[in-house]
Amino acid sequence: MNILNNVDLSAANTLRLPCQAQRFTAPRTLSALRDVLGQARREGWAVTLLGGGSNVLLPEKLPGLVVRPALHQWWLSGHQDDQNAQEDDVFAHVGAGVNWHALVMATAARGLWGIENLALIPGSCGAAPVQNIGAYGVELADVLHAVQVMELATGRVDWLSAEECAFGYRDSLFKGELAGGVVITQLVLRLSRTPAPKLGYGDIAARLPSFPTPLAVAEAVCAIRREKLPDPHVLANAGSFFKNPLVNDEQVTQLLRQYPAMPHFPQGGGKTKLAAGWLIDQCGLKGMRDGAFGVHQHQALVLVHFGGGDRHGLMKTANYIAAQVEARFGVLLEPEPRLINP
Ligand code: EPU
Repeated sequence: MNILNNVDLSAANTLRLPCQAQRFTAPRTLSALRDVLGQARREGWAVTLLGGGSNVLLPEKLPGLVVRPALHQWWLSGHQDDQNAQEDDVFAHVGAGVNWHALVMATAARGLWGIENLALIPGSCGAAPVQNIGAYGVELADVLHAVQVMELATGRVDWLSAEECAFGYRDSLFKGELAGGVVITQLVLRLSRTPAPKLGYGDIAARLPSFPTPLAVAEAVCAIRREKLPDPHVLANAGSFFKNPLVNDEQVTQLLRQYPAMPHFPQGGGKTKLAAGWLIDQCGLKGMRDGAFGVHQHQALVLVHFGGGDRHGLMKTANYIAAQVEARFGVLLEPEPRLINP
């Protein structure tokens, strides 16, 4: 078993926060993963799971063992034990270590519909269900069929249906009840050969012909993202730093009276989603810099790291931004990436 000691994880998280892992391993098979979890149990090492590192806030020191599943296989099948399966359905079976964007482009290039709107989201497939990745009107939950997991305590492999994952906006069972209890090892996605473009969000439709291919949709999404979102290889960031807040109807009515142009998206059940980026932008914070960190100049929801900072400094900047928004709008912002603690 290949366990490395004292591993620098600053290049393994897209915010490039400094982090020293006491031990690190990247098992390539289910049995190697089971073995390493068994060893961690016997030695009493705390286990921290890491995917592509694109949605985590790492501390400076991580004792115990960091495990990054390197299950890189994926394949397509036409059949699945599912009474609702359609003739044109194609199921993608995807190892947790597969890069999400690579999967999107590969399935779109094969003419399969389903995840083309989720192009260019950084990170690994195994991490995708944790926060139920979403963009341009599509969420992972819309196409996820099942998730294979390995229980940390026993090494037992199990399957969860999409319903069992309790998906919500940037939320799932893996952030709640199952947090720290399982490793996601494989996803099964239900894709389709039947054209089903979802072009309702923003100006995607304006960039495409009337009957686009899934690859053309994926490429349009990439173009939009490249215009607004910084490339983490060039400027360290973790995508949206805050979740879009959900507020009640009464608060929206009051806010709209004062700010009639405020973007707002009713969600049903008396709740409305506001655009955190707009709220931050209105506070005049777009493009601001606070030491090593700042607010991206083209998208106020993204915090960027210019280098030399750590998580403490990032949280200081984030708290300042949240305090400004709260003072002006009375709305609380919550960080979207996960705070990883030893
Ligand atoms: N807005 C501003 N100023 C800004 C940013 C946004 O006024 O600096 C306004 C926009 O004009 C628009 C509204 O806010 O009216 C919403 O903006 P946008 O469409 O850019 O989307 P978002 O709500 O800021 C969410 C996701 C993104 C996803 C996009 C597109 C969250 C937290 N973020 O951003 O996801 O790509 O929608 O679907 O839900 C991520 O999670 O890392 C991420 C990038």
